[in-house]
Amino acid sequence: MSSPASPDELLEQQVKERGVPRHVGIIMDGNGRWAEERGLVRLEGHREGSSSVREVTRVARRLGVSALTLYAFSSQNWARPAEEVAGLMELLREYLEKERAEILDNNIRLDAIGELDRLPRYVRAPLDRLREDSAGNTGMVLSLALSYGGREELVRAARLLAEAAVRGELKPAAVNEEQLERHLWTNGLPPLDLVIRTSGEQRISNFLLWQAAYSELVFAEEPWPAFRTPAFLACLAEYQRRERRYGQTSAQVRGGVVDPTPS
Ligand code: FPP
Repeated sequence: MSSPASPDELLEQQVKERGVPRHVGIIMDGNGRWAEERGLVRLEGHREGSSSVREVTRVARRLGVSALTLYAFSSQNWARPAEEVAGLMELLREYLEKERAEILDNNIRLDAIGELDRLPRYVRAPLDRLREDSAGNTGMVLSLALSYGGREELVRAARLLAEAAVRGELKPAAVNEEQLERHLWTNGLPPLDLVIRTSGEQRISNFLLWQAAYSELVFAEEPWPAFRTPAFLACLAEYQRRERRYGQTSAQVRGGVVDPTPS
């Protein structure tokens, strides 16, 4: 005889039935504070945070989220103490090796956005291998933002457009939102529906600046290492209570005439 569904399972079922966002981005904040509050070194917070990455990825996949983008290391994080940067890089390497089988077995495509050339070889090599080996997977895109910055991404896109114009391949007057989006690292991903930031801070911190133009923002109190299935489900339930209006009126939305912008 099967046991009755737990409250978490019931909530998960309910969230799934109501329709999940296609693309969720997460600012995984609070690892350091979580560790410090327990008298541990900051790296232990990042290590526990890797378990949250695993758990949230599993739930997102089960729920049918199409794309999950995780802010794992910002362009600005290089300025942290060398020991912390090295520890984070080592954790990333471990993650890419340990999670490889699960990612492949679950039809997940692993990708990365950011200035990937800045990553050390011992991260870049397992990352590229997994990107290549999972390239044909169709279940969900798990995108790691590594050495990522939204401003850096926009500057790069502007530079690529300018170079195309200089080569005569693009008229400046032809530059529009679609052209610019094509030059973002996130090109090909669905529009970003929801951004979650953990640990109580309410900032965007250079994460997906262009893409978040019409995203819903949900701020969770839990620090990232404590952000597990129930906290993730609560954020999705909060998203489902929101009304997305894309600049139109509530009456228009309820009448079903909203024409969502591409981002
Ligand atoms: C922010 O917390 C978190 C980071 C800078 C790193 C996030 C990395 C992980 C979750 C682990 C490795 C990633 C993967 C994909 C396996 P913080 O250190 O700024 O926290 P604080 O604000 O409390 O100091």
